[in-house]
Amino acid sequence: MTVLSYTTAITGCLYRLFCYVFLQVVPTRLARPYLPLLYVSHVLGLLFSIRQDKISTKQDKPDSDKTQPISDHRLASTLILCLPSISTSVNWANLSINTILLAAVIDFAISPLLDDASNVTFTRVGAIYPDAAKVTVRYPFPSLGNASINILWREVNLASNESRWQYGPKINLTASSDWIGTSKIENLWPNTLYEYVLTDNNQSVLPYPHHPMQFSTFPDPRFAGGSQFRFAVSSCVTPNFPYRGPSYRKAIHGFDLLANTIDSRPSTTQLISNDTTPSPGLPLEFLLFLGDFIYADVPLYMGDEREAYRRLYRRNYRSPGLRRIYERMRMYPNHPILCPIINNYMGEANDSKPPYPNAVDAFKLYNANVNYDPLHEGQFYYEFSRGDVAFFVMDTRRYRSGVEEPDFSSRSMLGDLQLSALLGWLSKVNNTAAFKFVVSSVPFTTLWSHDAQVDSWAGFPKERQLLLDAFHSVPNVIVLSGDRHEFASIVFNGESAESYPVYEISTSPLSMFYIPLVRTLAPRSQANVTRIREEITITENGTEVVEVVEHLPKEHVLKYLPIGNSKWSEIQLDTTNASKPLLYVETFIDGSSAYK
Ligand SMILES: *[C@@H]1O[C@H](CO)[C@@H](O)[C@H](O)[C@H]1NC(C)=O
Ligand SMILES: *[C@@H]1O[C@H](CO)[C@@H](O)[C@H](O)[C@H]1NC(C)=O
Ligand SMILES: *[C@@H]1O[C@H](CO)[C@@H](O)[C@H](O)[C@H]1NC(C)=O
Ligand SMILES: *[C@@H]1O[C@H](CO)[C@@H](O)[C@H](O)[C@H]1NC(C)=O
Ligand SMILES: *[C@@H]1O[C@H](CO)[C@@H](O)[C@H](O)[C@H]1NC(C)=O
Ligand SMILES: *[C@@H]1O[C@H](CO)[C@@H](O)[C@H](O)[C@H]1NC(C)=O
Ligand SMILES: *[C@@H]1O[C@H](CO)[C@@H](O)[C@H](O)[C@H]1NC(C)=O
Ligand SMILES: *[C@@H]1O[C@H](CO)[C@@H](O)[C@H](O)[C@H]1NC(C)=O
Ligand SMILES: *[C@@H]1O[C@H](CO)[C@@H](O)[C@H](O)[C@H]1NC(C)=O
Ligand SMILES: *[C@@H]1O[C@H](CO)[C@@H](O)[C@H](O)[C@H]1NC(C)=O
Ligand SMILES: *[C@@H]1O[C@H](CO)[C@@H](O)[C@H](O)[C@H]1NC(C)=O
Ligand SMILES: *[C@@H]1O[C@H](CO)[C@@H](O)[C@H](O)[C@H]1NC(C)=O
Repeated sequence: MTVLSYTTAITGCLYRLFCYVFLQVVPTRLARPYLPLLYVSHVLGLLFSIRQDKISTKQDKPDSDKTQPISDHRLASTLILCLPSISTSVNWANLSINTILLAAVIDFAISPLLDDASNVTFTRVGAIYPDAAKVTVRYPFPSLGNASINILWREVNLASNESRWQYGPKINLTASSDWIGTSKIENLWPNTLYEYVLTDNNQSVLPYPHHPMQFSTFPDPRFAGGSQFRFAVSSCVTPNFPYRGPSYRKAIHGFDLLANTIDSRPSTTQLISNDTTPSPGLPLEFLLFLGDFIYADVPLYMGDEREAYRRLYRRNYRSPGLRRIYERMRMYPNHPILCPIINNYMGEANDSKPPYPNAVDAFKLYNANVNYDPLHEGQFYYEFSRGDVAFFVMDTRRYRSGVEEPDFSSRSMLGDLQLSALLGWLSKVNNTAAFKFVVSSVPFTTLWSHDAQVDSWAGFPKERQLLLDAFHSVPNVIVLSGDRHEFASIVFNGESAESYPVYEISTSPLSMFYIPLVRTLAPRSQANVTRIREEITITENGTEVVEVVEHLPKEHVLKYLPIGNSKWSEIQLDTTNASKPLLYVETFIDGSSAYK
């Protein structure tokens, strides 16, 4: 045994560990410089020891067989446990294993290049209104030049075949828009089931979708009876992670699990007969996807080109799991994907700052255009309501300040226009909506440490406090967030006894890594709010009012579930009793219910 054989053993061992981490734990960008380096130094060492081995075998034992027998036990421990070996055959076996690992790493890292999903065909429903629905279609016609597609729709009348197909909007498809287009079907009835198919210019029905796509319009907001529905929320997906081999290149496991859950639910709406137990019966109506729908720079940054971003979106829409979700009856997969650009991007309100222009081109085509119409022309933030439940979806990237200010006090996440839109929306729905969901791609809580102190709302203290004060003045505000690759539900206590508590539900990833071992969420904030509570005590001298001083943390964790590659939360609302609106949360980890 020489120094060389020990060095080779150590590099080989480090290399395998790194491969395992990269393919199964965290697809870190560090792999790009270090993995090839480790592989090359290990292989060089290995080849060198094989050569030395041959020489010494010849010198020492000219008669003996080169492939000297070694015990199975020894073989296994050499291959697995990184013990130095002098056997040539073991070294060759060992080299093959490491090369297969390298092939797996390369396959995972460059699979967008190996398979660009350029011919993916799909259609999906996005924004749903009481009287309209937005539909997006991708139909590549590489041989025909430009083409247009018609949407043919009708009401689904289960009792008769009366309703006739009607011409909906035309969608122009061109190569420059990557054969994708979006349009709105209008003049629909509220709370009604519809279906649509696609036809070409000659009015013949196209082979895709194989069955008419169905959707229900939202109920009439003027209807006072309240509502019951359920939706899902999550964020962060990467195809084929944890890596399962080249045949799973198309798979996004989290979408498969979510689709399985949807399949296992009854499709008809069941009324809740018991207001203390959440009914599992309600089907999911839509998915709020909060960000990191694509990772432009993980594991490998493919460059700032339109095609590089478009390719990543196409790959996701081609995944069988996501297809099962957007093709599902009565599903409205909304994807307010707010961080489509690059890790922890800060737009600084500069739309020409790379990679914004190219990244946003793909984001608009594939996701944003089919979302709700923005509150202001050309913006990405929007609001919508389903009955008496209101949502505001923030754009937390385009306007966020950089990190120049050392104390962060003047940093803005939203920009002035969006901030005033959010506050205006809050006043508007304050007394009309039973629940107000504020959707943020990054966590609102300050309890997450490390980079969350810069990238999440913790790094924007002044703007955050202004929002939090407004939230505390409104009943039933719930912040939905993602991005941390962990689940947590948090409660915020206001300064005064009249303040309404604010809740946050942060859920991610749907199909991505979680950090093992390191926990970054503090259970409660250092800062307290002081509450004076009056307590009436009866003594021998009569009743007496005693003031009890309480110190409540400003924010504290209700539930923390860091582990799991696949998480989503389902939120079920029941506002049928206006004086007692109900909200149920159920969080799923790796396909099974983990928290209610
Ligand atoms: C591979 O072969 C080298 C060279 O003999 C040896 O030192 C090492 O322990 C073997 N195993 C691994 C995991 O690299
Ligand atoms: C898309 O391309 C792949 C291979 O490039 C092919 O196997 C598949 O059949 C094509 N799909 C359609 C709908 O043309
Ligand atoms: C396709 O449409 C684009 C823009 O709509 C136009 O610039 C281009 O000339 C058209 N190509 C053909 C072949 O019609
Ligand atoms: C609806 O159409 C189907 C097939 O076109 C037919 O068999 C059925 O009798 C029709 N039902 C009614 C109520 O008209
Ligand atoms: C689609 O193309 C036609 C003809 O080129 C044009 O008249 C129409 O305005 C286009 N529609 C949209 C929505 O761009
Ligand atoms: C429409 O019909 C014409 C004539 O039958 C044919 O040449 C053309 O290819 C058809 N277009 C499509 C999109 O099928
Ligand atoms: C309501 O919930 C309670 C407690 O879980 C259960 O015992 C009861 O059977 C439920 N009632 C109905 C009607 O589901
Ligand atoms: C916006 O970004 C571009 C590209 O980085 C830069 O050239 C330009 O000066 C920036 N504009 C402002 C107003 O900062
Ligand atoms: C919401 O309404 C309450 C009273 O109904 C009021 O005190 C509070 O300031 C309002 N909050 C906002 C943000 O409009
Ligand atoms: C907040 O209250 C807790 C317990 O009531 C206490 O341990 C902690 O020191 C308080 N924090 C501050 C900053 O006063
Ligand atoms: C009741 O009043 C008497 C006389 O004022 C006082 O001495 C006693 O401590 C009081 N008891 C309590 C429980 O406050
Ligand atoms: C609505 O909730 C209130 C408060 O819990 C309750 O008193 C009332 O009976 C409920 N109304 C109905 C119709 O269940």
